[in-house]
Amino acid sequence: MVEAWYMDESPADQRAPHRLQPNRAVALQQLRELGVRYRKLDADNYETDPCLKEIRKAENYSWMDIITIQKDKLPNYEEKIKTFYEEHLHLDDEIRYILDGSGYFDVRDKDDKWIRISMEKGDMITLPAGIYHRFTLDENNYVKAMRLFVGEPVWTAYNRPADHFPARKQYMKFLTEQAQ
Ligand SMILES: [Fe+2]
Repeated sequence: MVEAWYMDESPADQRAPHRLQPNRAVALQQLRELGVRYRKLDADNYETDPCLKEIRKAENYSWMDIITIQKDKLPNYEEKIKTFYEEHLHLDDEIRYILDGSGYFDVRDKDDKWIRISMEKGDMITLPAGIYHRFTLDENNYVKAMRLFVGEPVWTAYNRPADHFPARKQYMKFLTEQAQ
């Protein structure tokens, strides 16, 4: 099961776990209330997995590619690592399926606190359009992930502040409705 927790404020290496002492775990239900969806899949058989096929069909995830984030494997590695860790949002859902390795997705909760989601092989996550988030490798320094998208992919990241976008406004409305 995916593990998530509230982060500490320490300026230490972004790849460190950054757990509070004592740890403050975040349940899947709380992630769901933020619009974050999680699934566990069989990453060893992603090429033939009927579950993945089913999800792609049901969610219209027509487009996909596979990205490897590792030193010497990804062009402009250092620069990309920095970019991924800038707090940002997108105008579309961000869907990632970890095929190998691991990493952290950080998302803001409704009180603007960072929640760290530890993603490992077999974990698929959907971050809703308009949620502020960021990504980092963990101390293993390696991840291979499938990127999925509804239609032609748009990877544009809008660094915070990006509150004026309709996608952000719609997300804030969703959060308010969840709280009622
Ligand atoms: Fe993103």
